[in-house]
Amino acid sequence: MILTGFMGSGKTTVGRRVAELLGREFIDLDHYIVESEGRTIPSIFESDGESGFRAIEKASLKKIINSTDAVISTGGGIITYEESRNLLKDNEHHTVYYLSAPFELLYERIKDDENRPMLKQGYEAVSALYESRAPFYEESCHYTVDAALSAEETAGILLALEN
Ligand code: S3P
Repeated sequence: MILTGFMGSGKTTVGRRVAELLGREFIDLDHYIVESEGRTIPSIFESDGESGFRAIEKASLKKIINSTDAVISTGGGIITYEESRNLLKDNEHHTVYYLSAPFELLYERIKDDENRPMLKQGYEAVSALYESRAPFYEESCHYTVDAALSAEETAGILLALEN
């Protein structure tokens, strides 16, 4: 199982919970990157820029996607590169679930988080990013799931779909 979606859609919280319910390992791709790089996400953005982070992100997904049956939560920008979108859609190990919710709700959840460099662009730009990414999440997933619910409810839906 792989979870995708915009920042604030609950990929990490929901993913951890579903992994628990399924008795599977849980891997948060951002956390995996921080561990393997020995740097925080903001510091990677600062020294390598967004494109540097994206390259690491793509390589990390490639490395783990076919070698684990863990529940994997991805960063919101994983759908930026076509290669990653194809990797998600065509992989043979995981069903990909897009956690979808209205922008206003997501923005309320994330607006004060200093650990998300993309937010520095401001409300308008983040809103435009949300709009531009939505079709990419749709095209690279197998199921779209309502993430405006509580994490527990969304986890329940995923569990039912996975079984
Ligand atoms: C990003 C989302 C973040 C993280 C990085 C970039 C994005 O993950 O990968 O800050 O471009 O949307 P979350 O979606 O878990 O916040």
